[in-house]
Amino acid sequence: MNENISLNEIGKKIIFHIDFDYFYAQCEEIRKPELRNIPSVVCVYSGREEDSGVVSTCNYEARKYGVKAAMPIRLAKSKLKDIEAIFLPTDMPYYHDISRNAMRIIENYGELFEQVSVDECYVDFTKITNSDFDDAKIFANSLQKNIKDKIKLTCSIGVGPNKLISKIASGVKKPNGITVVSREDAKSFISNCKIEDIPGVGPKTAKKLESLGIDSISDISNKSIFELRDALGYKTATFLVNASNAIDYSQIKVRGTSKQIGKIVTLKKDIANFEQINLTAASLCTSVYENLSNKGQAFRILTIILILENLQHVSFSKSLKLYSASFDELHKNSLFIIKEMINNNSISLDNIRRMGVVVSDLKDISGQDSLVNYFEN
Ligand code: TMP
Ligand code: CA
Repeated sequence: MNENISLNEIGKKIIFHIDFDYFYAQCEEIRKPELRNIPSVVCVYSGREEDSGVVSTCNYEARKYGVKAAMPIRLAKSKLKDIEAIFLPTDMPYYHDISRNAMRIIENYGELFEQVSVDECYVDFTKITNSDFDDAKIFANSLQKNIKDKIKLTCSIGVGPNKLISKIASGVKKPNGITVVSREDAKSFISNCKIEDIPGVGPKTAKKLESLGIDSISDISNKSIFELRDALGYKTATFLVNASNAIDYSQIKVRGTSKQIGKIVTLKKDIANFEQINLTAASLCTSVYENLSNKGQAFRILTIILILENLQHVSFSKSLKLYSASFDELHKNSLFIIKEMINNNSISLDNIRRMGVVVSDLKDISGQDSLVNYFEN
């Protein structure tokens, strides 16, 4: 669904790491807003005895009293003694529903997307931000607002030139924070981090590093790679030396069985008329249709995305009554939705910067006589 970025463009990348704040506890607040003002703690009860088990997460009201993830429930209760607080069991199906909805909003921007856990993902927003970190800051604000407006969920966003920097950056300001680390600032940013801030450095590696006299990230970059390799092995040593120089070659891993197919393009600046909109829509639909046909799939949900000059994101999804694998249906509906969106939101044509067509709720129909016949009868 993406225009691929070649390897020589790696140095221009802008990667977002998006982390939903105090996730399970925030999900509970979404359905019970009264929890927002009191400490609320989501727990995994072991069932052995009343209150045996651990804290999964808690809201920031509870954190003020020293309650933390992985803490025994009894200890959390003692910290909140005499305080009006709520303890709740986890409700994983509900958290997964919220996660799916929020991830879909992010995925619908149509860029390289990798979900890494129920509440974290990476996205390559190089194109939307024109590889510009000032634009990335504006865009991060708009993305955060979009998720908040649609599902009342806050997230913290880290923006950096690679996954490593964006991941560390998203933890800097929480909740509802945005931390942008430009290419130029990445080396000094990481030099000021603690070794344990590097994802994947656990207590075992930290101990080995300590025995080599390495207590800080700048100590790593001053050490010989050979000495590090002898102590830690080739892979870890190379990773750490790169990390200490703010270098990370790991790629966004788009899942093999994508749950949606889409294409997004930047519109030409100087031609702002309906003819250009129609031509772009036709080209987007052709590309999506070809991809859909090649995979032998039909779709049910069609989403149109418009990204405006101020990087505001407007999207609209329509669910068809039946699955469809028809180009005409895709094209006709796309044009209709685009025109409705422009009219309903009073969008001036020269304000549209990017346009995308995404189909989701896909169904495998390979093996049918004809994709089109199967669904148009
Ligand atoms: P968060 O609360 O920091 O956003 O972490 C994401 C979710 O991961 C959280 O809502 C619950 C789960 N989690 C645990 O179950 N145990 C843990 O120790 C941590 C840190 C998180
Ligand atoms: Ca989180």
